[in-house]
Amino acid sequence: MPTRYSQVYAAWKADPEAFWAEAAKEIDWSKPWDKVFDPDQGVYGRWFAGAECNTCYNAVDRHVEGGRAGQLALIHDSPITGTQRKFTYAELKREVEALAAVLQDNGVQKGDRVLIYMPMVAEAAFAMLACARIGAIHSVVFGGFAARELATRIDDAKPKLIISASCGIEPGRVVAYKPLLDGAIDLAKTKPAKCVILQRPELECELTPGRDVDYAESVSAAKAAGTEVPCVPVAATDPLYVLYTSGTTGQPKGVVRDNGGHMVALKWSMKNQYGVDPGEVFWAASDVGWVVGHSYIVYAPLLHGCTTILFEGKPVGTPDAGTFWRVIEEHKVAALFTAPTAFRAIKGQDPKGEFVRKYDLSNFRTLFLAGERADPETIKWAENQLKVPVIDHWWQTETGSPISNNPIGLGILPVKYGSPAVSMPGYDVQVVSDEGHPVDTGTLGNVVVKLPLPPGCLPTLWNADQRFRDAYLAEFPGYYKTADAGYIDEDGYLFIMARTDDIINVAGHRLSTGGMEEVIAEHPDVAECAVIGTADALKGQVPCGFVVLNAGVDRDTAEIEKEVVALVRERIGPVAAYKLTVAVKRLPKTRSGKILRGTMQKIADGEEWSMPATIDDPAILDEIGAALREKGIGTSQRIEPTAPAH
Ligand code: COA
Ligand code: AMP
Repeated sequence: MPTRYSQVYAAWKADPEAFWAEAAKEIDWSKPWDKVFDPDQGVYGRWFAGAECNTCYNAVDRHVEGGRAGQLALIHDSPITGTQRKFTYAELKREVEALAAVLQDNGVQKGDRVLIYMPMVAEAAFAMLACARIGAIHSVVFGGFAARELATRIDDAKPKLIISASCGIEPGRVVAYKPLLDGAIDLAKTKPAKCVILQRPELECELTPGRDVDYAESVSAAKAAGTEVPCVPVAATDPLYVLYTSGTTGQPKGVVRDNGGHMVALKWSMKNQYGVDPGEVFWAASDVGWVVGHSYIVYAPLLHGCTTILFEGKPVGTPDAGTFWRVIEEHKVAALFTAPTAFRAIKGQDPKGEFVRKYDLSNFRTLFLAGERADPETIKWAENQLKVPVIDHWWQTETGSPISNNPIGLGILPVKYGSPAVSMPGYDVQVVSDEGHPVDTGTLGNVVVKLPLPPGCLPTLWNADQRFRDAYLAEFPGYYKTADAGYIDEDGYLFIMARTDDIINVAGHRLSTGGMEEVIAEHPDVAECAVIGTADALKGQVPCGFVVLNAGVDRDTAEIEKEVVALVRERIGPVAAYKLTVAVKRLPKTRSGKILRGTMQKIADGEEWSMPATIDDPAILDEIGAALREKGIGTSQRIEPTAPAH
């Protein structure tokens, strides 16, 4: 079909308010808006000001009332435990309503925060929807974060209650959640009044008397009592959730998502961007702890009346590289969304695609990749094996849905390898120099979005309007800074090349090297440190830490390096994938004292590098190269200066 993209994008640009008002007709509102967009509210304006709605109603109840009661809403497919559970929309409503009753019985009211620290079980989705039902604000924390990261989030969100589980399951090990939860609560200044704990048979835990409530028992009691919990109307501009994401320091940013704009944006994206119809099966192989999980495991597919899959497993090893194809065949998945790293893992184990051919993929129409740059080789491999369009699209925790995409529902555009395609309606994406001037077509620069941001994007950071302004709006007035560097080509295709801050992308997970440096600096023998992301064939990037030891430390350096690795794992969590510390005598710096991380990264990645003109002592870069070579890393050569290094 000929693409309608240009026409639709032009219609949005001509009249953004009319565009979003039309899209908003797909949502049931309990009170209509006074203004589609109110520029005088919030930091840069607010969408659907004055309207009232409920996200759980639109995701669940509306479908039960509208003829989808018997349709599957959610499938928990868990190869790691060898189990599967399926819930129709009616059953989903029963689960969510019962848990909502438990939350209310334990004192949770509209506007209260509820922290969710759960593995990939169906109850994690129930928990999110139960909060939405009663107007409570959820904050899901990824299970791979350690107690201290959890404590930081508890102190920022100040939850009245925490919903957690006894354990998560990773290949070859059961992760006991309860000690992490208790440790975090001990560390946190704010203590939740209650914790609702889901006992999993793989590892049960002891409940803390007076504080902990058993999930299954309390939900069963609520079901038996037949407690009805109506959906509480909230303002469209009220927060649905806070999701913490890495910032440039160890203090994560609490990205706020509202109710109204979020629903409008996600509902619009399902048909127009992902090309999926109500009743079809949509699978985002991510984790509910990440934004992809929030938007495309839980909210968008349910708002659209799809069946969603919540997958507890890995692309390889659970049990093999055919798992994804088994799930697609068994549940008749129409579209899969995952990170390129998952495909690199599959390709690594099954380069010839032998597993692919064991399964019937006839229902499968499109593969979507995001979370990190999709390397052309991986895309081509997936295209060859799957014989479906493979679509790279770009978005951030902050935006909640794609900034750029190849909108298959509007008609696919030609694929350009290495590009996440074109700006979506709502986004006027531009590329500017460091001074804020537009750059020429094809020239690398800072990727920015003209304000206002569209519905569904963050209106602010949790309790931190000023940090929101400083971090995103101050540098390029009138624009949102994506902190990505890239360019736009002559056909309007975007190319997203790298972050402009200290964020690295490890296996599709967003991590702050600044946060890791803060932890490493706590080691008593470390005087200074610098963490960089180095290229990794599977994970895209992995962190590598350089440490300078305090004068007079005469302990075994290898021992200290190991302790630093253990410290990052203990403080941030296994998800940091921090496995390499290199002790060096000195760190390379500019004369003004700025550590030359960019040059260190080039050396580690084996790329050519040139001596920065501002370097304090050039010999240090050779020392870094030698230290890396001792660890078997980096073979790069210095080139004589032609272009400025960075
Ligand atoms: N709870 C506890 N630990 C977790 C965890 C969780 N929810 N998720 C990951 N971890 C642990 C892993 O077990 C691993 O521990 P280890 O150091 O003891 O091996 C560590 O954190 C690093 O995890 P990860 O970087 O994911 O590596 P991996 O080797 O386990 O798996 C991939 C590699 C590529 C298979 C995996 O990263 C993957 O499937 N990625 C998809 C990415 C994704 O879903 N991104 C979301 C955006 S779409
Ligand atoms: P997160 O907030 O975890 O979704 O991470 C967002 C960051 O991941 C972006 O700012 C980009 O740096 C990177 N990213 C996400 N999707 C893509 C993509 N398709 N291409 C390149 N980078 C991407």
